[in-house]
Amino acid sequence: YRRLRVALLGAGAVGSQVASLLRQHADELADRAGARLELVGIAVRDLDAPRETEFPRELLTTDAEQLILGADIVIELMGGIEPAREYLLQAIGAGADVVTANKALLATHGPEIFDAADRVGAQVYYEAAAAGAIPIIRPLRDSLAGDRVVRIMGIVNGTTNYILDRMDTEGAEFGDVLADAQALGYAEADPTADVEGYDAAQKAAILASLAFHTAVPLDAVHREGITHIDKAMMDAARRAGQVIKLLAICERLPESADGAAGESISVRVYPALVSREHPLATVHGANNAVFVQAEAAGDLMFYGAGAGGVQTASAVLGDVVSAARRHIAGGVGVGESTRANLPVVPIGRVITSY
Ligand code: HSE
Repeated sequence: YRRLRVALLGAGAVGSQVASLLRQHADELADRAGARLELVGIAVRDLDAPRETEFPRELLTTDAEQLILGADIVIELMGGIEPAREYLLQAIGAGADVVTANKALLATHGPEIFDAADRVGAQVYYEAAAAGAIPIIRPLRDSLAGDRVVRIMGIVNGTTNYILDRMDTEGAEFGDVLADAQALGYAEADPTADVEGYDAAQKAAILASLAFHTAVPLDAVHREGITHIDKAMMDAARRAGQVIKLLAICERLPESADGAAGESISVRVYPALVSREHPLATVHGANNAVFVQAEAAGDLMFYGAGAGGVQTASAVLGDVVSAARRHIAGGVGVGESTRANLPVVPIGRVITSY
């Protein structure tokens, strides 16, 4: 097999799993990709920080820019906006395909990254950026490209689903279960991102952009968190045959927001009452689920682990295999659909309130 040089930026919960799985399954991955995926280095901030998996320490470097220059595929798992944005643009500029799980970056700078990739015929893969291990980016971008998505209702944050589920099933109070959720390792470094709905809003912006073929900026997403939900609200919901879930709702509306002709879309994250009969009510613990309604396909539900290092690494490695196959097949435009954010259907102004 031909060798492809893979550079990894970040060796945290997801990155360290990607590093070890790439090496552990090297032969199988080579068969599937049609190329040997050679991990040439892992850029980290601190060479001596403890790592969650085993991989040769000599792969570690603090010089991300040097590592990027020699790579065919760059995997960005550092998180945050900078320097991740700068590194991805450098990788694209140097002719690499990029794989990222960076929801914050794509929700705020997606068009800039996709435009840069378009200019040089590179591809951006980001299956791990929303709902962890659950395949949802490709289904929305590719499998449903011939249909019209009408609505997405997603439980896309594991931490808040875990908290709300324990409040519902055990009668626990919010403050008592937040620390447990953090200890499980699903929460963002700053749990405010989870409990105030910022993480879910970033994922909602990404899913809505794909579903409606238009760039939905993060600041167009209405957002409410769950910190005000208490036992009394949970009990009232239960008595009414409902449960409170933090939902990301992305919806196509039949009229424009300003009264002009045409459709508009609404994207909003808030704690919603869900009937106990609805499939989303059965999503327990830190799991995620994305319920998609499309005109021709009808109702679809995607369910599974929305967070966790090794689970999310599964989605990252799928992207790496896709990127490798494209390289082997000859690059630009081969084996891939169009980029995610091309505004092919102008569907009016995005409305921000519900
Ligand atoms: N903090 C996120 C969650 C991790 O709880 O779902 C996955 O993006």
